[in-house]
Amino acid sequence: MQVAAFAELTGPDGVELLDRPNPTPGEGEAVVDVAACSINRHDLWILQGDSAMVSGDALPFVSGLDVAGTVREAGPDTAVSEGDRVLLCPNETCGTCEFCREGPENRCAAFSLYHGGLAERALVDGDRLIPLPDAVGFVEAAALPTAYLTAWHMMRRAGVTAGDLVFVPGATGGVGVACVQLLDLVGARSIGTSTSAEKLAAIEELGCDHLVETADPNEMLAAVKDVGRPDATLNHLAGEYGQVAMAAMGRGGVQVVCGRTAGPDLTIQAAPFFLGHQSVHGSTMGTQPELERLVGFVADGDLSPVVDRTYPLAETGAAFRDMVDRDVVGKLVVTP
Ligand SMILES: NC(=O)c1ccc[n+]([C@@H]2O[C@H](COP(=O)([O-])OP(=O)(O)OC[C@H]3O[C@@H](n4cnc5c(N)ncnc54)[C@H](OP(=O)(O)O)[C@@H]3O)[C@@H](O)[C@H]2O)c1
Ligand SMILES: [Zn+2]
Repeated sequence: MQVAAFAELTGPDGVELLDRPNPTPGEGEAVVDVAACSINRHDLWILQGDSAMVSGDALPFVSGLDVAGTVREAGPDTAVSEGDRVLLCPNETCGTCEFCREGPENRCAAFSLYHGGLAERALVDGDRLIPLPDAVGFVEAAALPTAYLTAWHMMRRAGVTAGDLVFVPGATGGVGVACVQLLDLVGARSIGTSTSAEKLAAIEELGCDHLVETADPNEMLAAVKDVGRPDATLNHLAGEYGQVAMAAMGRGGVQVVCGRTAGPDLTIQAAPFFLGHQSVHGSTMGTQPELERLVGFVADGDLSPVVDRTYPLAETGAAFRDMVDRDVVGKLVVTP
């Protein structure tokens, strides 16, 4: 089979098409014919040599978390069968630590993620496969696991409810668009930001209620406060936007942070934070039942995951180039 491997951690030019032996499933495992695998900034961090998860010793490395496809072969004691349409939940958990036992499972002390979807076939844990109803296409399903699951879990973490005003800095990419759409789904109102007027017009169509065109922290703060005091912030940017969110929300505001797109640190001024009884939560991915619920939203016609473009496996490098160039609204999906 062919895989799109990271041969060097030098950015999009480091992706190479390689031949690999076909995988064979062991007990509890399945081999999936990959119909679609979306890419995430997580993969890009790895490809740029900016991830603690993968070092040069692991090259060539096959990334890709968000696998949708058809079961080709199931090993013994596996709950799926050949021909099943499935979506992989990329969570890897130990199942026995205190956090696994207490839940939610994404707090597992040994939490990790599946990698290997940028390939014609993927060897996966059968227990992590979610059946896909016929109404849900492979490409739209592959958009869900990392971006939409993370956004949904952040919303639940923030206690977002109908009528809330929610600030989403950087609202045009995978996680950002997922936040906008899911906030709309639950009846909350969103404030989304971007450096691109064209991309803001696209998210307005997707249900974003208030648009802010700037990356300048002071301008952003003023524009958000003009709209109102957000109840919550869903922040994948971090950096100086941490303080923008705190200052915009005011008393009692809740900020949930899942990323570091705009910088490795999260800047927050201490005094207004404690005097204002605010809170900040870190959040990573979500749970398999939450992902099942998202599949249900799509099956019921309540959610249409946004896929900007698809690429054949041989064009995986071009997909990462488009992500680097910020030439995307929503998700980019490789279709091996
Ligand atoms: N913890 C988790 O479980 C988890 C899960 C998923 C994602 N994440 C993290 O969440 C972040 C987003 O991931 P993604 O896959 O959604 O990425 P993405 O699609 O590439 O995000 C693009 C968005 O980020 C904005 N952006 C890009 N670079 C920026 C910069 N330097 N300053 C300000 N804004 C910038 C873009 O703004 P413009 O519209 O202006 O171009 C756009 O809105 C990443 O940090 C990722 O690691 C974490
Ligand atoms: Zn665990």
